[in-house]
Amino acid sequence: MQTCTTIAELRAAIREQKNSGYSIAFVPTMGNLHEGHLNLMRRARAISDCAVASIFVNPLQFSPLEDLASYPRTLEADQASLSSEGVALLFAPPVEEMYPRDHDSQTIVSVPKLANVLCGVHRPGHFTGVTTVVAKLFNIVAPDFAVFGEKDYQQLAIIRRMCADLSLLIEIVGVPTTRAADGLALSSRNHYLSAAERKIAPALRATLLALKDKLTQQQDSITALEKEGETYLQSAGFKPDYLAIRDAQTLGVIAENSSEAVILAAAMLGKTRLIDNVTVVLGSANSWPPK
Ligand code: PAF
Repeated sequence: MQTCTTIAELRAAIREQKNSGYSIAFVPTMGNLHEGHLNLMRRARAISDCAVASIFVNPLQFSPLEDLASYPRTLEADQASLSSEGVALLFAPPVEEMYPRDHDSQTIVSVPKLANVLCGVHRPGHFTGVTTVVAKLFNIVAPDFAVFGEKDYQQLAIIRRMCADLSLLIEIVGVPTTRAADGLALSSRNHYLSAAERKIAPALRATLLALKDKLTQQQDSITALEKEGETYLQSAGFKPDYLAIRDAQTLGVIAENSSEAVILAAAMLGKTRLIDNVTVVLGSANSWPPK
């Protein structure tokens, strides 16, 4: 595997692959790779001739109060994992390579409506940071495919929308969430959890699955189920940012013509913010109580 730290170096390496007629699948990451990331790499390899990964802890997507400084950086171990997964190229630029000018005047890419709900309410500016860096990475790598985890459901929806709105010729591929044996979604932030919190953490997924069952039975209103889920999370020891049941395609409220719902939650457990989601097929004739 070749590691490139400059845009010029990566572009030259990609050009060689393209000149050989190879298709490119790209997996952007912030590093500290775990099995979930490695599943994304495996998918990238399966759908293309050349898998390209990036590791870049993107300052634009962290608010001043978040964990930019302490975000785990484990480049050497990550390089070894990527290499053994058969990734051909790694782009690991320093911040000055990606943002050589001052951040305040940086051109941004924003997907306003989708980015201002759910996590966007609790992390203002976060998704603009994500779409700005992903658009820039897409321009640098020019991949045929880009692979993202479904754990970050809203992020995936926003990136799909960005590609559609900007007519980017990149197929976005979503990969199901990789979980620990007890159901906790794998995340680089899980190791912030204390031993006691780690035992509680799977209750997030369990709450979403219990709500999924209830939603399928269509006995309670959406609002009642959301409230019930939040109350349960609080009693388990979480401080929920939100728990919401939304249309899986639009992330808007469930309408009579919604064919699939997604139940999404974000909650603090101690100082760790956890997110998760489950989708629910609603069938063609759903009859939701309106409120
Ligand atoms: O999901 C992530 O790790 C990041 O948001 C991404 C897509 C790599 C952009 O920095």
